[in-house]
Amino acid sequence: MSAPVQTRRLTAPEIRARKHGDPLVCLTSYHAHTARLVDRYCDVILVGDSLGMVMHGYETTVPVTLDMMILQGLAVMRGSKSALVVVDMPFGSYEQSKEQAFASCARVLKETGCGAVKLEGGRRMAETIAFLVERGVPVMGHVGLTPQSINTLGSFRAQGRDEADWPPIEADAKAVADAGAFALVIEAVAEPLGRAITQAVAIPTIGIGAGAGCDGQILVLEDMLGLSPRVPKFVKRYGDLGPHIEAAISAYAQEVRSRAFPGSEQAYGMRTPAPGRAKGRVER
Ligand code: KIV
Repeated sequence: MSAPVQTRRLTAPEIRARKHGDPLVCLTSYHAHTARLVDRYCDVILVGDSLGMVMHGYETTVPVTLDMMILQGLAVMRGSKSALVVVDMPFGSYEQSKEQAFASCARVLKETGCGAVKLEGGRRMAETIAFLVERGVPVMGHVGLTPQSINTLGSFRAQGRDEADWPPIEADAKAVADAGAFALVIEAVAEPLGRAITQAVAIPTIGIGAGAGCDGQILVLEDMLGLSPRVPKFVKRYGDLGPHIEAAISAYAQEVRSRAFPGSEQAYGMRTPAPGRAKGRVER
């Protein structure tokens, strides 16, 4: 009998060590079934708080709660086995104090079994990131466009398109790296800025709308599959699943209405005729 093949998940330190290696491949997932597919090809699966928009139809990520993240984090852990699973910390669960951040992150790590968390913010979060890392919480940072700050930013516009705007974003990235984060998401910044940050920090950068100079790339799965109605400019659609799903639903609806579904292949027959029962009667 051959020994079962043991698969081990990638860890945050292994992702950190990929700074000068092959590009990091990352996607979001919120469900067990999509996680199973993503897991075969990706180094990192992010359970992003974009689930607020994608799964729940909110306009922003602000309403997302810690319980929502934990529920979907658990689903993704059940569906995957090799990738590092990173769970996003939702707005309001970590900004108030280092202690609040640790309590929320500890819940996420304990209750989902994921390997790391991600939180938004640069210099303002550096002290918290250092506090978390010192206490055993692997942290992925997120700078550039930080969607949880939509109410102060006013729009989801790309950042750093004028060189004069670079210094604070570069300072944010350096602060997160110096605080001990193992990787850094850079969202929606001008391509040369993404490249400059990647050269300036010692940890891998994972771009989403930050250009080809980053150490890795991430997209929201439903955006790249063509399931999201509106997507930012940086999304490349690798699939167009919407029309396929609609065609399948429409065929189903038509067959149910015409009684073509279910057919005999989808129906349970009797193993042996039930004694004393009238022929043709179906047992439950
Ligand atoms: O929530 C999310 O999906 C993210 C990605 C955009 C990086 O944070």
